[in-house]
Amino acid sequence: MCPVQCGCGFVVLTALICLLVSGADSQERAYRTAGGSLLCPLVEDFYSYKRSTSYGPSRWGEISECCQGQRQSPRDLASSSGSLCGGGQHHMFSYNSSRALPGKLYNNGHDPTISFHGSNTAYLFNAPHTNGAYILDNIHIHFCTNAKGSEHAIDGQFYQGEIHLVHYKASYGTLAKAVQQEDGLVVVGIMLQSRAGYAGDMNQELVKIIQRMGNLEGTGKEYQLPVQLNVARIFPKSTNFYTYEGSMTSPPCSESVRWIIFREPVNVSSAEMDILRRLPNEDRSSTVQSCNDRPLQTGHTRVETNFACSSVTNMAAEEI
Ligand SMILES: *[C@@H]1O[C@H](CO)[C@@H](O)[C@H](O)[C@H]1NC(C)=O
Ligand SMILES: *[C@@H]1O[C@H](CO)[C@@H](O)[C@H](O)[C@H]1NC(C)=O
Repeated sequence: MCPVQCGCGFVVLTALICLLVSGADSQERAYRTAGGSLLCPLVEDFYSYKRSTSYGPSRWGEISECCQGQRQSPRDLASSSGSLCGGGQHHMFSYNSSRALPGKLYNNGHDPTISFHGSNTAYLFNAPHTNGAYILDNIHIHFCTNAKGSEHAIDGQFYQGEIHLVHYKASYGTLAKAVQQEDGLVVVGIMLQSRAGYAGDMNQELVKIIQRMGNLEGTGKEYQLPVQLNVARIFPKSTNFYTYEGSMTSPPCSESVRWIIFREPVNVSSAEMDILRRLPNEDRSSTVQSCNDRPLQTGHTRVETNFACSSVTNMAAEEI
């Protein structure tokens, strides 16, 4: 949309304000849509999650201008303030395949990731405020210490981890094209809870996947492992969710994401969380992953729910 209109001499739609970042190369361009989203292309540049380094989250704006936008993620999702209490007006989204999907498990240096391809993936339909089908591209996990590992918070409460299911709009053809569109991505977030002493129901599909992640011997696709994942089995029982318009939580931080975050967490044991934290990292100063969570941002888009606000209580009652 904008790269063509701004860069190739076509008529610039007055609805689009194109911001030129330093340098004239088209790969370095950020642009704001009429709807207010700041969009940026995928970047290859090195970045880190370490707060103290020069590649850390507070400096990501130097890697991609979008990281300083006004609709950035993650956010603290408050049930009480700023929410439109949907009370069921957004129905549950659905996939058109319920079978186990064959994927490739690998560690890209930032996240343990399962990528899906071609006819072997599922299409998501009926995500709130979207039209058309979205292709499941990858699933990855964010984590850090026991006190905070999730990226989003729910009523100020963090969880030990957060799974992201990344989908791009089928009509855009590729993930790279979709990140430069305001309605390009739908990311479904599921909170991971691990509590010391809890020996009840674990999410077995996730336990299986995370244990397989423990077999990854290095970063990059040369260490990838085949895996089978049934997406429906990693979802929590309750279909209650929050939804808002935000961004990717790592560079390029493009504001192309319709977020759907489940309110109820799923459980894994602390042994699985430890497997994640021990994964190798491409960080120049460390060989251990330990953390890949972006700090909370102050986005100003409206958070909606698909459940009645009168029923809102904080699901996570106690501290760890
Ligand atoms: C899901 O929908 C897509 C797009 O309409 C289609 O290409 C694909 O074959 C469907 N998959 C299944 C299992 O029905
Ligand atoms: C997850 O663990 C909590 C206790 O920490 C428990 O109350 C809850 O029922 C568990 N969830 C599932 C889906 O088993």
